Amino acid sequence: MKKRFYIETFGCQMNKGDSDLMALSLETAGFDRADGEADADILIFNTCSVRSHAESRALARVRSVRKSDSALVVIAGCMAQRLGDSLVADGTADLVVGPYQSPKIGDIIAGCLGGRKTRAFLSQKPEDFAGRIQPAAALRRDKLPYHKWVTITHGCENFCSYCIVPYVRGKLISFPSEAIVRHVGQCVAGGVTEITLLGQNVNQYGMDSGDIPFHRLLERVAGIKGILRVNFLTSHPMDFNDDIVRVVADHANITRSMHLPLQSGSDRILALMNRKYTMTRYHSIIEHLDRTLPDHAVSTDLIVGFPGETEKDYELTLDAVHRVRFDEAFMYAYSPREGTPSFVMKEELGRSQKIERLQRLIEIQRAISREKLLARIDRPEELIVEGQSRRSPGEYRGRTYLNHPVVLPGGPGDVGRKIRIIIKDVRGSTLYGERSA
Ligand code: SAM
Ligand code: SF4
Ligand code: F3S
Repeated sequence: MKKRFYIETFGCQMNKGDSDLMALSLETAGFDRADGEADADILIFNTCSVRSHAESRALARVRSVRKSDSALVVIAGCMAQRLGDSLVADGTADLVVGPYQSPKIGDIIAGCLGGRKTRAFLSQKPEDFAGRIQPAAALRRDKLPYHKWVTITHGCENFCSYCIVPYVRGKLISFPSEAIVRHVGQCVAGGVTEITLLGQNVNQYGMDSGDIPFHRLLERVAGIKGILRVNFLTSHPMDFNDDIVRVVADHANITRSMHLPLQSGSDRILALMNRKYTMTRYHSIIEHLDRTLPDHAVSTDLIVGFPGETEKDYELTLDAVHRVRFDEAFMYAYSPREGTPSFVMKEELGRSQKIERLQRLIEIQRAISREKLLARIDRPEELIVEGQSRRSPGEYRGRTYLNHPVVLPGGPGDVGRKIRIIIKDVRGSTLYGERSA
């Protein structure tokens, strides 16, 4: 009987994409997907290292199955790359497989079950990178049947001083534009109508390889017949430019929701973070978006408690939040990561002070997010229906082109379709809409 695998994914969409590649590789190597962890012979944990909490969660989870199970335990992803052999040496895992090796994990595991002694597969050489965009991957479905995440760059060379990603994911590698466009075309032929282009800084697409710049790729993907919406994540304020905004403005099927991580509102902290932009530059991007895209949303990431952040620096972050009025923000307390430049910078705040700053920020942002949602009432919107609402069988949920979640009356035939609505109500962080002509 074929051995069965189970994959559990932590971290960002990059990891979710890698888990898809792993499943494909395992099936190609002759393994079957298990229904759940209980009936699996191979347990794979695709892990994240971005904050220490992400690692401790994954480690606790792996150790809990380790106690109760005789299955082969594999740690893959960013934490595997960061902690490497030590995870095998201390008995946490049987095997560690870094992100470069995800598309080959089937052969790696088959080799180990067949008696191969090596237990750590962490190489990050260019030749290890082959096989990442595969035609067969187009046939796999995301959780939403009409949506596909499409990774356009791997790795990052921005070296923000707090960030572990450049170390665990390696240098920037852009996939060839021809392969991406072909891949998206195959997805669309298979029924996909929404695409999200993914990279740590998608705006740097092509800078390593001399391929077309990001705005041209976006234009080509948006031009593929049958695509109702193209999203892209993540932009970097250093590289986000007017060409991108122009392409968005020229294409009704590109999202109006821009994710532009700010991190801090203090120029001094931004410089210490090695973010390579100032608040003047950030505000000029926002003003350009306001002029060029009349109806758009901006979301962001913010870190509080970076080493040396004074109350004044923190207040500058609050000022930025009040001035920009983000639709949504992902907010974090700074987490020191060994091996990054900021790890050796002296931290003046204790955990409780960081949490206190974080909570104050969250409260302010929450109120702004709610005001922005309330401002949508009685406005016409277009959304793509994702599926049935959990609350009631006659209600369906979807997301607008500003990435706001909406509940509306609907039926199964609506899933994946674009529908016009009028927003009628806001409950919590969800909009409620009615169909319009
Ligand atoms: N590439 C994106 C960018 O440039 O913003 C996202 C990278 S990271 C996966 C997502 C977010 O995690 C970052 O934007 C940052 O706010 C946060 N983050 C990264 N390292 C962190 C750290 N050491 N402590 C706290 N938050 C961190
Ligand atoms: Fe990390 Fe900065 Fe790269 Fe984003 S751009 S992944 S925050 S180093
Ligand atoms: Fe993503 Fe976490 Fe790795 S955010 S790139 S899975 S460190």
